[in-house]
Amino acid sequence: MTLDKTSAPMNFVEIISILINNSSVDLNSFFQQTDEVRRTCVGEEIHLRGLIEFSNICRRNCLYCGIRASNSSIQRYRLTEEEIIAAAEKAVEFRYGSVVLQTGEDSGIEADWLGKIVKKIKKMGLAVTLSLGERDDQDYQLWRKAGADRYLLRFETSNRQLFNVIHPPLSNRKPVDRIEILQKLRSLGYEIGSGVMIGIPGQTYEDLARDIDIFRTLSLDMIGCGPYLPHPQTPLGNPETHKNIDLPDIDPKDQVPATAEMAFKVIALARIVCPKANIPCTTAVATIDAQEGRKLGLMRGANVVMPNLTPVKYRKMYEIYPNKSATYLSVEQTHDAVMQTLREIGRIPGTGRGDSVAYLEREQC
Ligand code: 5AD
Repeated sequence: MTLDKTSAPMNFVEIISILINNSSVDLNSFFQQTDEVRRTCVGEEIHLRGLIEFSNICRRNCLYCGIRASNSSIQRYRLTEEEIIAAAEKAVEFRYGSVVLQTGEDSGIEADWLGKIVKKIKKMGLAVTLSLGERDDQDYQLWRKAGADRYLLRFETSNRQLFNVIHPPLSNRKPVDRIEILQKLRSLGYEIGSGVMIGIPGQTYEDLARDIDIFRTLSLDMIGCGPYLPHPQTPLGNPETHKNIDLPDIDPKDQVPATAEMAFKVIALARIVCPKANIPCTTAVATIDAQEGRKLGLMRGANVVMPNLTPVKYRKMYEIYPNKSATYLSVEQTHDAVMQTLREIGRIPGTGRGDSVAYLEREQC
């Protein structure tokens, strides 16, 4: 299969054939082509986003996530305003164009409090991305007015049955539709980012192909995906409790494997369906393949890295999955490692805010 940049984007059947990787597909040449699409559509710059995981408090009980409310074995923290600003100052020092403020679903974060912090960070010349999970519409509105530029909310899987099992709704509430939330966020003027986990137990190739097709229909500005990594202190990650979960009953041959190669395929396909999006090579990819993951992701379609700026004493507590890459590195070491990777692959750090080309073009219309 050859990709003609002028032809229609890949359809569902073509996406599945890459994911399943039947013999008609030469993966190496496919990856070369997706790298070429990346170069043509978003260039050689790699945008760096300083990731500030400012609270691991969470009211949810997602069956896969290590910071779920019921995990009593982790210590909970929330950074003070001063700590958040100090982390953002590091982003300025390292010449990152933006920061990502990420948390669990922490109802103790007051919208006004965060709005004031967003204003301060914006004055420092940084773009601000928020990733705080599902919140009230008024909060999204208030933060947008305060200057927040982007919002990340993964829909995790488009298989609703699977999603509702692994992401139980809050008690007395109906399951939410994250696609609707993303559309709402776009209507408020945010650049919108989403993504999925790859290889969730019960996730089929068809599910994953549909996920990728949804990236296209949503014209996402940012797409972050990574392999599902089992956390032993979660119901899905613990073999004892795993068997009691009511997952979709699928043929084992249809199960998507949670491998580095599958993650690279998803990054590459995301680049094809949303050629102008910003696509990070995520920490989960750097974790599943500590040697090459970051590099290979960036050579197969990704154009963003999110170096962790969370103060080191808190990092271990933001353990959504085990052995998370860079957990024990200082902020400086994390930065140096990323810059080293960029040099090794001959790419350059981005300058400026690194807005998505897709978003900028939409704004012009
Ligand atoms: N493995 C991989 N990714 C995970 N996330 C949460 N738990 C895990 C896990 N066990 C991802 C989810 C979430 C993002 C912040 O981290 O996709 O949206």
